Amino acid sequence: MSGTAVVTGAASGLGRAIAHRFAREGIRVALWDVDLAGAQRVATEIGALATPFAVDITDTGAVKAAWSATKAGLGTPSILVNSAGILGPSAGIASYPEEQWHRVLDINLNGTFRCCQAAVPDMVASGYGRIVNIASIAGKDGNPNVSAYVASKAAVIALTKSMGKELATLGVLVNAITPSASETAIFGDLTDERRAKLLANVPMARMVRPEEVAELAYWLSSPACSFSTGAAFDISGGRATY
Ligand SMILES: NC(=O)c1ccc[n+]([C@@H]2O[C@H](COP(=O)([O-])OP(=O)(O)OC[C@H]3O[C@@H](n4cnc5c(N)ncnc54)[C@H](O)[C@@H]3O)[C@@H](O)[C@H]2O)c1
Repeated sequence: MSGTAVVTGAASGLGRAIAHRFAREGIRVALWDVDLAGAQRVATEIGALATPFAVDITDTGAVKAAWSATKAGLGTPSILVNSAGILGPSAGIASYPEEQWHRVLDINLNGTFRCCQAAVPDMVASGYGRIVNIASIAGKDGNPNVSAYVASKAAVIALTKSMGKELATLGVLVNAITPSASETAIFGDLTDERRAKLLANVPMARMVRPEEVAELAYWLSSPACSFSTGAAFDISGGRATY
């Protein structure tokens, strides 16, 4: 497979693994991240197929400019993976800081919307596109004390369903992935107690590896995924019950 993919949040964790997976297939990858130094490091790991871009997905103008720059430099992308995201603070609902609530929603949900909005017109014009939104099992099940995160991920699943139906006959397929916990930078330094809590509901009793999520993201981004859209794909070691 050739072509061009945009991967947001590609400087770290799941986005980094997805970018590596795409490059293994010969796909050119635009590594979009607010952490330019991190994106540059991943570009060095990957080599000639990767190009880093400094993009803050909370900034509509920056997202539009990055889409244009990616098109000009790498060709029009046919794949968009929205992986950039933050967890936000851990706090009960009564004390959850409102400005952090807005920040989590602005990155995880509105950022995904902005990137989709930049990508969809070109994908529709060419009659082909694959969009993969990294949501979370938390958006289906709920997790305590991270209400903004959970709400943002549930909304990303809903956005995916809406876009999937809207674009279903236009060649642009939109799906979400709902992973359980993966030991990436999103958690900061994990204590044994926190790790145990994260694994308590996972029948396979381990974290999902970023490479496992990347495999699913790759399939959803490929022409082999041809009759699935608006769906949330589980990768939770047996945790999901629906
Ligand atoms: N790690 C997990 O357990 C897990 C589980 C389910 C879902 N997810 C989701 O997967 C996605 C990736 O998470 P991860 O574990 O790789 O985390 P991570 O912290 O390793 O990577 C997230 C990346 O997003 C970037 N980012 C943050 N804010 C940004 C912004 N405003 N603009 C552009 N880039 C920005 C960060 O710089 C970072 O490189 C997130 O959406 C997360 O919610 C993660």
